Amino acid sequence: MASFGPIAPHYDSLMSLVPYKMWASYYQLLLAHQDLRPRRLLDVCCGTGILAEQFAREGYTLAGIDLSAPMIEEARRKAERHHLAIRYEVADAATFDLGERFDAAYSFFDSLNYIVDPTQLAEAMHRVAEHLTPGGSWIFDLNTAYAFETKMFDQQDTRNKTAVKYNWVGDYNAETRVIEVAMEFWVDGGHFREIHVQRAHSHDEIVEMLEDAGFGAIRAYSSYTLDPPRKKADRLHYTAIRI
Ligand SMILES: C[S@@+](CC[C@H](N)C(=O)[O-])C[C@H]1O[C@@H](n2cnc3c(N)ncnc32)[C@H](O)[C@@H]1O
Repeated sequence: MASFGPIAPHYDSLMSLVPYKMWASYYQLLLAHQDLRPRRLLDVCCGTGILAEQFAREGYTLAGIDLSAPMIEEARRKAERHHLAIRYEVADAATFDLGERFDAAYSFFDSLNYIVDPTQLAEAMHRVAEHLTPGGSWIFDLNTAYAFETKMFDQQDTRNKTAVKYNWVGDYNAETRVIEVAMEFWVDGGHFREIHVQRAHSHDEIVEMLEDAGFGAIRAYSSYTLDPPRKKADRLHYTAIRI
C-alpha cells in the first residue's frame, strides 16, 4: 500500500496529459526572474525523471534523487534507452548526500507535500542548500490547504479506452493539514491500491525553513504566473537563492 510502488511502471502513462513541457518553460521563466543561468541541475524527488530528461535534452547536466526505488528504476531504464547521462539515486530528500554541488535545484509536482513531518522538510531544505553553490537557485512547488479543502484529489478516470484507470478519494484533516488519499488503480487486467499522504505546509513555515537553511530572495507565486499567491491558489511556486 506504500506510495509510488506498484504505480511506478505505469506512472508516465498515468501522467501523459500533465503539461511537463509548460512546467519546464515556467521553470526557465522563474530562473530568468532570478537572473540566473544554471547548467548543473538537481531534481529533488525526480520520480521517473520526466522533467530531468527534458532538461538533459536541452543540454543541462542533471542528477535526480527519489525515495522510491521503483520510480528510480524506471528513471534509469528510460535514461539508458534514450542515451541520456543522468545520475539517479534512491535517496531521502531529508538525508541525501551526493557529494557534489549544483547551480540549481528544483522539485515539482507537489513532491515536497509528501514530506509530511515539518522537521523532515526543514532537514530537506538544509540538504538542498548543502548541494548548491553559493548564489544557486532553489525552486519548488507545493499544493495548498485550499487545494485539499476543495477536494483536488477526488478524481477518477475509469473510461474503457484509458490505459491506467483510477479512482482516488481524499480524507483531509484541517487541524493537522494532512490529507490521506486512497488511490485505486486498474491496469493491464490487474488491480492495486496505494495510500498517498501529503501535508499542506503553510507559507510562514516554508519561509522560516528556507531562511533557517540559508536561503534568501524568497518569493512565492500563484503557480504558472508571476502573480503573488492568490487566496484561492491550489498550488504555489517558491523561488529562493542560496546565500
Ligand atoms: C507526485 S511524484 C512527482 C515526481 C516528479 N517530480 C514528477 O514531476 O513527475 C512525487 C515523488 O516524490 C517522491 N518522494 C516523496 N517523499 C520523498 C522523500 N522524502 N525524498 C525523496 N523523494 C520523495 C516520491 O517517491 C515520488 O516519486
